[in-house]
Amino acid sequence: MSMVVEEGIKKISRMLSESEHAVVFTGSGISAESGIPTFRGPGGLWEKYNPEEVASIYGFKRNPKEFWKFAKELIIKSSASPNPAHYAIAELEKEGVVKAVITQNIDMLHQRAGSMRVLELHGSMKYVDCLECRNVYEWEYIEKILQIEQPVCERCGSELLKPRVVFFGEPLPYGILSEAMEESRKADLFIVVGSSLVVYPAAKLPDMAKESGAKLAIVNLEPTEKDFLFDVAIYGKAAEILPKVLEEYRRLKS
Ligand code: APR
Ligand code: ZN
Repeated sequence: MSMVVEEGIKKISRMLSESEHAVVFTGSGISAESGIPTFRGPGGLWEKYNPEEVASIYGFKRNPKEFWKFAKELIIKSSASPNPAHYAIAELEKEGVVKAVITQNIDMLHQRAGSMRVLELHGSMKYVDCLECRNVYEWEYIEKILQIEQPVCERCGSELLKPRVVFFGEPLPYGILSEAMEESRKADLFIVVGSSLVVYPAAKLPDMAKESGAKLAIVNLEPTEKDFLFDVAIYGKAAEILPKVLEEYRRLKS
């Protein structure tokens, strides 16, 4: 690990040890080491698929088959498990310093790692609704069908089975967004992990935290266009860096 990264880890850990209300904001990069592909950056899904087609509400209604083909790649395989970055964040919540996780991810890995307060800005795959007859399915059931074929509604035969995730062109769940804005305003430390910070309104939250006086830190594989906002930026893999932040934080607190 380079000196620069080691220095960054020390700085973030010190900021955590002085924090009363830290908030962690995550994107697809935190789940990369759990085997779930990111959207942007090298090998990202948007290099292979057109988001308008497979991840917009119009594209979905026009051709749900395309979405489910794409979803198979992104799909939250129940085999995909949390990685050391998710666990480190859950531990920091247990130690009382991280008060909330705001995530853009739909993979439910934060909850599976033990995080209790998780605000899912873009929803999750937990439930799937039939847009025609409103029948509701649990993700585990749909995932099984998906291994074999295109899921259709058992009750009415419709192909329009839509997971409760936010598609491009859809509003974010209002209650969750306002809670996330509230947390960003209350934070005295706002840590971004694994996000390119290009999708709004989620990408506005670091700015809101800063405007309310928070210190900002980011752990990301590559620079983002909002790095100028941050007091500390560490370029590297979340699953390597976050456990070291937790270790250093515990050393400072002991
Ligand atoms: N550790 C840390 N960061 C990583 C890692 C890793 N192992 N691997 C990749 N990254 C970084 C990439 O460098 C990239 O900047 O994670 C970031 C992922 O960015 P995106 O793929 O754009 O993901 P995200 O920011 O979550 O996208 C936001 O866009 O497509 C929509 O709705 C979708 O929620 C998603 C939103
Ligand atoms: Zn139906």
